[in-house]
Amino acid sequence: MTTADGRPWWRGAVIYQVYPRSFADGDGDGIGDVAGIRSRLDHLAALGVDAVWFSPWYPSPMADAGYDVADYRDIDPVFGTLPEVEALIAEAHARGIRTIVDVVPNHCSDAHPWFQAALAGGPGAPERDLFWFRPGRGPDGDQRPTDWVGEFGGETWTRTTNPDGTPGDWYLHLFTAQQPDFNWDHPMVRAEFEDVLRFWFDRGVDGIRIDSAGLLVKDGTLPETRPDQPHPFRDQDGVHEIYRSWRRIADGYPGDRALIGEVWMPDRQRFANYLRPDELHAAFNFDFLGCAWDAAAMRESIDGTLSAHALVGAPATWVLSNHDVTRHVTRYGRADTRFSFATKREGIPTDLELGTRRARAAALLSLALPGAAYVYQGEELGLYEVEDIPYALRQDPMWERSGRVDPGRDGCRVPLPWTGDEPPFGFSPDGAAAPWLPQPADWKDRTVQAQTGDPNSMLELYRAAIRARRAEPALGDGELSWLPAPDGVLAFSRGGGFRCLVNLSDAPIPIPADGELVLASGPLDHGLLPADTAVWLRAAPHGSDPS
Ligand code: GLC
Repeated sequence: MTTADGRPWWRGAVIYQVYPRSFADGDGDGIGDVAGIRSRLDHLAALGVDAVWFSPWYPSPMADAGYDVADYRDIDPVFGTLPEVEALIAEAHARGIRTIVDVVPNHCSDAHPWFQAALAGGPGAPERDLFWFRPGRGPDGDQRPTDWVGEFGGETWTRTTNPDGTPGDWYLHLFTAQQPDFNWDHPMVRAEFEDVLRFWFDRGVDGIRIDSAGLLVKDGTLPETRPDQPHPFRDQDGVHEIYRSWRRIADGYPGDRALIGEVWMPDRQRFANYLRPDELHAAFNFDFLGCAWDAAAMRESIDGTLSAHALVGAPATWVLSNHDVTRHVTRYGRADTRFSFATKREGIPTDLELGTRRARAAALLSLALPGAAYVYQGEELGLYEVEDIPYALRQDPMWERSGRVDPGRDGCRVPLPWTGDEPPFGFSPDGAAAPWLPQPADWKDRTVQAQTGDPNSMLELYRAAIRARRAEPALGDGELSWLPAPDGVLAFSRGGGFRCLVNLSDAPIPIPADGELVLASGPLDHGLLPADTAVWLRAAPHGSDPS
């Protein structure tokens, strides 16, 4: 299935991320589920997105909200059943919406049968070779095999107890202790995941989002991390062979099946290696996500992104938020607008009105840039990070693992508001249990219902922008040319007379008089583009257009 212009869909799609726990609750237990998603598919159709990516919904003890998978081929009862998911895929397709599932290959849950067999088998059991079991250091083996620091901070090894009750070997987990890392040097691990890909492609999904895609391969000699040496578990060269074999599988299916990697990689050249023509189709652009709301920094990020992708002929992606990061309405309302896990804190002074204005401009920016754009659920409603979740209700392991320094990721995972004036805002049916995380009372103004038909709402801005993007052949995949612009302003043409201007300075600037206004992210001021505002322009039918 390619688009009307013959290019594969994933090169220019708008892809919406559904975080199933928090999207819509069909059965009234306060937790989102597949029935809820099916009942709200019309929202996605009205928004006009091309595809939906579903965060994990597999059987899981939920130590990391489902990113700890116990069975890659089934659905957790809290979310529903496999036949329901099959129906969802068909119903999405019937609305012209493609589907993407999340596969977590770096680690599984400690409840996965393979890990349970490895524990039960004791030292030397062949099942242990599927993971990283090692004796500890020191005479009693009571020191961790390495001092590696994990992706959530903290220790990466946990000591096991032998079947006879004595202290045993340690196993590696780059995330929580409930997420043991697979040993990707083992052919059974490779064969298993190739089969998991086929399982989902056989069910008609159009793409796979690959969790922690740069971490799978480890240096088996287990060296300590040294600045002058290749990192022992990040971006090891051997990872590329895995994705070459996955690409062959994806290419073996009819239609354009896409592999989309979660690759956190500051080095853009190394990032682009994942997108070589025989590897992944696309990867999330975290460079752009983390970038400050600053014209020079944004331009550098956009240029760096485009040139790195051009090296390998891959389309760029533009991401503002996801289920792991502070929502950008909040980020952009702070003095320091950048995102990094290392600096994530709560209680930082935030101007939500400013953040919202910038988020509106950022929506027009990201939807105008060449490539695919991602929308994280609730971003189209202008939701902000919920920072006052009571400690006792917090669920993200990052919170406790960081010694309650990092607030964790619950604040961007609060259930969506759909209708009505009070919680649960239509998230759950009447009479249901309270939502799994509390919703702020003032989200009554941000429900889908409250925003629908309000021309000034974030939701109508997203709907209009996605509609205009579909109608504008120059948008999506393609080229960008920068136009001359005052300091603090991003101005570019996408060809075909289409231009985007974003004012990141603090003073208004004139809007070129020769364009017809397609869309503005906020009120304009007598032909001027105010601060933190963006416009899309099209060549006026009879005017001269310099682009
Ligand atoms: C990815 C996911 C994140 C999860 C982690 C471990 O970064 O996006 O939510 O906690 O992998 O699976």
